[in-house]
Amino acid sequence: MLTIGVLASGRGSNFQAIIDNINSGFIKAKIVLLITDNPEAYALERANNHNIETRIIQPKEFQDKDSYYAHIANELKRKDVELVILAGFMRVVERALIQEFRNKIMNIHPALLPSFPGLHGQKQAVDYRVKISGCTVHFADEGVDTGPIIIQAAVPVYEDDTEETLSERILKQEHKIFPMAIKLFSEDKITVDGRNVIIKGKREDTVITNPSLV
Ligand code: GRF
Repeated sequence: MLTIGVLASGRGSNFQAIIDNINSGFIKAKIVLLITDNPEAYALERANNHNIETRIIQPKEFQDKDSYYAHIANELKRKDVELVILAGFMRVVERALIQEFRNKIMNIHPALLPSFPGLHGQKQAVDYRVKISGCTVHFADEGVDTGPIIIQAAVPVYEDDTEETLSERILKQEHKIFPMAIKLFSEDKITVDGRNVIIKGKREDTVITNPSLV
């Protein structure tokens, strides 16, 4: 069974969605470790509720970013982690971790990449007044939200949307496509060829659009 390690900094609703999809049997995998950089993260409570081992690892305990991420990589390897999930980990993951887990680190971003990378993807979309935004699950590479894209889901952006209302609409989709991407990975259905992520099976499963837009 696939072993998963999760990195999260905050409330952990994506982390919870993954736990729920494992518990329901949708994903056949086991989360063996939660690592957080934030002792106050609600994700810690979620892990405790489900008997998932936790570590609080903060950059201030390390000389530089390389040794911080090398340490995280070692903790994950010690637990035989095969897939790393960035579930609202509010830091740019650096080389020392990426190199150890190339195409084995998935991130969720609250916009349709390559639009609106970096922080506050939902606010950027509202400020730009695009008509469609969404979320993206992608493999992490050395850049900021630049890695190969696995699944995207689109949602409408309405004239009266605020950052909050759009975030809520996008979050519902995040909770669907992140578990879906992990399921595909756990079933060995994902191949990466450069930027191209090839998914075995039904095409409809890999792109989700909002039916009300069609
Ligand atoms: C989500 O919006 C995700 O897209 C972004 O950070 C947020 C994390 O939310 N990367 P949560 O902690 O999973 O509730």
